[in-house]
Amino acid sequence: MLRNQDGEGQILSNVVLSQIAEHAAYGGVVPEIAARAHAEVIDHIIEQAMEEADVRFDHLDAIAAAAGPGLIGGVIVGLTTAKALALALNKPLIAVNHLEAHALTPRLTDQVAFPYLLLLASGGHTQLVAVRGLDDYVRLGTTIDDAIGEAFDKVSKMLGLGYPGGPAVEAQAMSGDAARFAFPRPMQGRPEPNFSLSGLKTAVRLEAERLAPLAAKDIRDICASFQAAVVDMVVDRTRVGLRRFRDVAGTAPTALVIAGGVAANLAIRRGLQRLGAEAGLRIVMPPPALCTDNGAMIAWAGAERLAAGITDGLDTSPRARWPLDPNAPGSGKGGPGREGVGKGAKA
Ligand code: KG4
Ligand code: ZN
Repeated sequence: MLRNQDGEGQILSNVVLSQIAEHAAYGGVVPEIAARAHAEVIDHIIEQAMEEADVRFDHLDAIAAAAGPGLIGGVIVGLTTAKALALALNKPLIAVNHLEAHALTPRLTDQVAFPYLLLLASGGHTQLVAVRGLDDYVRLGTTIDDAIGEAFDKVSKMLGLGYPGGPAVEAQAMSGDAARFAFPRPMQGRPEPNFSLSGLKTAVRLEAERLAPLAAKDIRDICASFQAAVVDMVVDRTRVGLRRFRDVAGTAPTALVIAGGVAANLAIRRGLQRLGAEAGLRIVMPPPALCTDNGAMIAWAGAERLAAGITDGLDTSPRARWPLDPNAPGSGKGGPGREGVGKGAKA
């Protein structure tokens, strides 16, 4: 990753090794497999990235790595390797919060200025965050139960569509009848911009059980009706988040930014684009490859932190839990929030 004086970034290489194949047979991410796979490939991936970028180790200004939150095995492997490099090369280490990396990606892809509203939706997280500046995040809302990606994955499993569920459910939904089932729109109209998916998921399960055995059309219609309910909820919750934004940032956001694997969903993208048009707000969605987990986003967050003079000691610990906004309710140890409890989040 290159970052120039004007704050513009350039990706020199972005090697992503997907472990989906290793986990697919189990219908989800298996922590032990993930940790072992990280250890097996990390040297090779670093070598490949350096080759593609065509830079030498002594050209680097610093070494950044994800230090959490997420499945701890993979995080330990990545952070320990980064520490070894930083020590051997005598370069600063930057321990990056994986959620911060998602949050800052639109500054790499679209030079979005602070402050902006972020909708982060992945397999492990669903949050609306006011991004006021570097290291200055206010969580406006979160899910009180499942993450959106997790709900897509569970519905997919229920209907026998496999893993990961998001793309599979979306593909079925495209030719389904979204009006056939009136699934609930959880949290609709509530004043806090929080999300809830478990009631919707249960409604889908009950309908699938009632109709069993499912015909192909039933599956398509269930997927379309489920997805439509999710879109309505996301649009409603984000609209409330926009209203709340002014209270914590003192000004309107420069943009609404969508990040995380769920941002790849076209129906959700379209719904938010409608909201943007209605609110006169710029909508920024990084390309899907930079929305899902990748190395470039960690490097970019590292470059932004380095430019602000923020580096970390070699005694930095990996963290399974690491809220972006430490003051948010449910972010403390043992709090009610379930975000970041190693639920499918990746390094
Ligand atoms: O950000 P990500 O790659 O990994 C983490 O969870 O950190 O997000 C993966 C999640 C999975 O739950 C997957 O089902 C969901 O994003 N996803 C989608 C779509 N593509 C991926 N959900 C809905 N529609 C999609 N097209
Ligand atoms: Zn992620």
